[in-house]
Amino acid sequence: MIDANKDLSTQFPSLYNKEIMDNFRATMASSQELMSRYRCAIMEVETKFKVLNEQFSLQHDRNPIESIKTRLKSPDSILEKLHRKNLPLTLSSIENNLFDIAGIRVICSFVDDIYMLADCLIRQDDITLLEEKDYIRNPKENGYRSLHLIVEVPIFLQEEKRNVKVEVQLRTIAMEFWANLEHRLRYKKDLPEDVLIATESSLLECAEISSMLDKKMQSIRNVVEEK
Ligand code: GTP
Ligand code: MG
Repeated sequence: MIDANKDLSTQFPSLYNKEIMDNFRATMASSQELMSRYRCAIMEVETKFKVLNEQFSLQHDRNPIESIKTRLKSPDSILEKLHRKNLPLTLSSIENNLFDIAGIRVICSFVDDIYMLADCLIRQDDITLLEEKDYIRNPKENGYRSLHLIVEVPIFLQEEKRNVKVEVQLRTIAMEFWANLEHRLRYKKDLPEDVLIATESSLLECAEISSMLDKKMQSIRNVVEEK
């Protein structure tokens, strides 16, 4: 829920209007069912990855997944995104326009495992792939790398089946390390312009180095597995 004690007017000055905020609070208060569906979808997709990890570790004696993180987008982030995209602040607008309310991040040791796991997920007959962004083969300008998928997964409720969208991010440990640091630095807005420019270029360099590390680790594994 939105924290009533938090001053949202400072977070969203251009949006703030008491009536709009009260309406959005009421909207989110009635969103338990929708949010619960997203939580269930996260459980479904997380289990799918855990099953693949289990099977792979039996067959190949190693785990392709280092760790899995899940998150449900907070009401504040939902509000910020609807506002940024100029979308209505309603439940149906959330459901129809925001595809990252349910998020799952799968952290792998090796780049090959990312594609193997993504492929295994997409081929499951209850999964529909809606969108794929390959920021590993096509990194973002700042150096960001990860494979992003938007998938739809059915959840089976007492009376009905609902398809729910989930954003899946797959990345290596090195990509995760870089993205976490970059994310933290991005919010240090008070840095002088020259420091900012130098930091961005250092981060880009770090992204190249960590990509080289991933490639090197992958080639070591390829050699070791051939033996
Ligand atoms: P929005 O979902 O509207 O933000 O834009 P989009 O759909 O174009 O986003 P995209 O699929 O490119 O990225 C969505 C998520 O990926 C973000 O919420 C972050 O978690 C992560 N991400 C994308 N770009 C970056 C980046 O440059 N740095 C970091 N640290 N994370 C990123
Ligand atoms: Mg997105």
